[in-house]
Amino acid sequence: MMSVAGTREPRAQAGGQSIEFRVNGRAVSVSSSPLQRLSRVLREELGLTGTKVGCDAGDCGACTVLLDGDPVCACLVATGQVEGCEVTTVEGLADTNVGARLQQAFLTHGAAQCGACTPGMLIAATALLDRNSTPHENEVMDAIGGVLCRCTGYRKIIAAILDAAIKNAGVEDTASAAPTAISPAAGAAVGKRLVRLDGKQKVDGSEIFGADETPASALAVRAIRSPYHRARFHFGDLAAFVRDHPGIDAVFTAKDVPGKNCYGVISKFADQPVFAEGEARHRGEAIAAVVGETAAVEALETADFPVSWEELPPLGDIDAALATGARLIHENRSGNILVRGRVVRGDVDKALDAADAVVEAEYETGFIEHAYIEPEAGFAQRVGDQIEIQACTQSPYMDRSDIAAILGIAPERVRIIPTAVGGGFGSKLDLSVQPFLAVAAWHLGKPVRMVYSRTESIVSTTKRHPARMRLRGGCSKEGKLLALDFAADFNTGAYSSWGPTVSARVPVHASGPYYVPHYRALTRAVHTNLVPAGAFRGFGVPQAAIAQEQLYDELADRVGIDRLEFRILNALDEHTPTVTGQVLGEGVGIRACLEALGPKWKTARREAAEFNSNAAGALRRGVGVAGMWYGCGNTSLPNPSTVRIGLKRSGRIALHQGAVDIGQGSNTIVTQICADALGAPIERFDLLSGDTSITPDCGKTSASRQTLVTGKAAQMAGEKLRRAMLKLAGACDCATVLFNDGGVTVRDGDKSHVLALRDLPLDNYGYVITSEATFDPPTSPLDENGQGVPYAVFGFGAHMAEIEVDTELGTVRVLKVTAAHDVGRAINPTLIEGQIEGGVAQGLGMALMEEFFPGKGENLHDYLIPSAGDIPPVESILIEDPSPIGPFGAKGIGEQAVIPTAPAILNALHDAVGIRLRRIPATPDRVRAAILALQKGEAHG
Ligand code: FES
Ligand code: FES
Repeated sequence: MMSVAGTREPRAQAGGQSIEFRVNGRAVSVSSSPLQRLSRVLREELGLTGTKVGCDAGDCGACTVLLDGDPVCACLVATGQVEGCEVTTVEGLADTNVGARLQQAFLTHGAAQCGACTPGMLIAATALLDRNSTPHENEVMDAIGGVLCRCTGYRKIIAAILDAAIKNAGVEDTASAAPTAISPAAGAAVGKRLVRLDGKQKVDGSEIFGADETPASALAVRAIRSPYHRARFHFGDLAAFVRDHPGIDAVFTAKDVPGKNCYGVISKFADQPVFAEGEARHRGEAIAAVVGETAAVEALETADFPVSWEELPPLGDIDAALATGARLIHENRSGNILVRGRVVRGDVDKALDAADAVVEAEYETGFIEHAYIEPEAGFAQRVGDQIEIQACTQSPYMDRSDIAAILGIAPERVRIIPTAVGGGFGSKLDLSVQPFLAVAAWHLGKPVRMVYSRTESIVSTTKRHPARMRLRGGCSKEGKLLALDFAADFNTGAYSSWGPTVSARVPVHASGPYYVPHYRALTRAVHTNLVPAGAFRGFGVPQAAIAQEQLYDELADRVGIDRLEFRILNALDEHTPTVTGQVLGEGVGIRACLEALGPKWKTARREAAEFNSNAAGALRRGVGVAGMWYGCGNTSLPNPSTVRIGLKRSGRIALHQGAVDIGQGSNTIVTQICADALGAPIERFDLLSGDTSITPDCGKTSASRQTLVTGKAAQMAGEKLRRAMLKLAGACDCATVLFNDGGVTVRDGDKSHVLALRDLPLDNYGYVITSEATFDPPTSPLDENGQGVPYAVFGFGAHMAEIEVDTELGTVRVLKVTAAHDVGRAINPTLIEGQIEGGVAQGLGMALMEEFFPGKGENLHDYLIPSAGDIPPVESILIEDPSPIGPFGAKGIGEQAVIPTAPAILNALHDAVGIRLRRIPATPDRVRAAILALQKGEAHG
């Protein structure tokens, strides 16, 4: 990440009294109000932005600091309370043995992914180890229980803390705690557990997220949003409002958008206004933005803003939107249907008629909030006739196109500089702060800054699509799947976002990774007056898997075949066609994943049965399994990545790779791939990421595409540079390239040729040699029945969940998840395990606790995500069935990891107590009600 004239200057707060305390061993005096939050003072007065703010309400723990040695949420501490105290922030940890040990352990264990929670985690762990040098795992979980992490699934954090504790207890000396420089030999980086290359800044607090850097003179931007799901509105005297409010510089509305007041991630369906015009279509939709001095903007009472609202009846769910004669949310979308998806193969009705066993089911899931720890933030400034926006994003080039259209300027006049991203999971593919920043900075000619509050983030940004799925499946008495009839409606909210992608992707995947000869999958994305639903790790496939994997369990039971065996019997192989008629060829590892679970499945089933037969109380155990497949990249659409590398005169290599690392590790993975393709040591590389002015387009970070697509482009660029160097040396293809300090030597048999880099001319990019390569996965369009090649590469996996149900309370405790994934080639096993464990945690939340209701619980206190105590041990089994297309055989893992967890848990729930909930999540009240209904012989769910 690069800054644009950005500063981390402390920002003086006028008008307060002097408060003296010590921070990281240094005496400080601040002049803020004694009531000001300590987190704010640390970040904005003292420039210690390592302390993160995820909620400002004591819910996330990201702001945890030590106050006289005790961990506290700095957002809940008034600065006046710390007078005379000692405060320790993440920036001070390296000066302590315990803190330094923890930082090192977090790096080596891969315990920091996006890094937004990492400072709070490190501080909480330091407090623990300071008072208990040899904690038990449960004590570690307790100690970090108040700090939320949305990426890691906590297991690597726990392992890192336990490891640091062992070392801290004196097993090793307390010498330098600098990160271990893991330096595999040239050409041997792929497959190594390399410490992530951007890890150090995540553990020492120097990483720059969206809210961490801004020009000192920046004005604040605040959106005025609809409090109603649907409302007409009229502005009062905006000019008078500005005039009467000192410190407010301007108000912007739809009429101030210089270009198109419309954007969207898929241009064909773009429909979302920067500012609503006349009518707000969902709660949280912006109608105006107020810009001014930070204090004045923050002090503003929204009730003072001159707007009158007329609340209108909303279309609040799928049924209302589809009802005959329902009002249209968008005039051009008949029946409130944004788009339909369809994949049809064979004769489903005939096959179901002939099947020995047929099962029907209906499942429903709700909105799910991404709940990344970093709310959206950034700043913008106008530089001549260009606009520059530095913000958190998963898709810099898509942002550039949309901002150019909004401002009515050429894309080349828009520079997007992605910051570190404190978790995205799909939602930061869509614009958030960027349009408001762009419009304000463009008009005012001054830098402007916008930081979403947690509530603002939750009410206005996209969610996982609620789904209502109906399906009917049939199999032979031998257990061979014959047919699946699947229909689903997805509540896509007020605007299109990724609704078309969900509608297209789900029909391709709803069979699961099995051979289903007769298949019909029909989907619809339906508009309602609710928050837009968009991309969330899996684009609808996790919802479909909940339905289809439970149906397959019911079919297996119906014909009396072991549930794992049923899946193995039906698993796709390299010869069987998928539901789109694609024959995958090499690299189909689903059978290997399922078989890897086999011995554990038998043991777990036996142990659960023993437990239940001996159980005298309310506890019952169950074991469930679910399979998964997921196509990497866009569905039947081009999605190229271009990577550029340059050989410098110093002999170092500049790697321009624009795959935004949102915590998953693409900065490291792509470099490992490129290094081995080139044959250079990893430490030779200088990484240049994301900035649209210096890095070619690597597409969006989504659809599990960066390892495959950008990784392949990096491999090709590396090989091309190697060939260019060999040519320069006049050497053959088999020659060896050696990278030495200050130069490159080519060895060709007995001959040795030193490339005199300092004497060679530089090209237009400023390099001795530049190599650029583009890769676009080979796919084909789908025909009217959805037949074709939607993806070049699929990832496969299977999870087994072992759970314990308290039948009196309705609570479900997951005891263990075993996760087998075919990743083709494990470029960096530590990072892959991190993706799997994080996916399991999100899948667990989806199965058991997470559901967002627009208008209710718009905070992290009421919206619950798994904390450390909720996550069981996760055993990852990595299967490497290489893809003939992926770089070094690699496939994606990001979304694959989340898909099978929820159905495996729900299948285990049925195994334990015999219930199937038709509405997910399986919250204690629903589980208890279903158990009671089952006991009474009633229908449930
Ligand atoms: S920011 Fe303080 S607890 Fe979330
Ligand atoms: S690494 Fe914990 S929130 Fe991202």
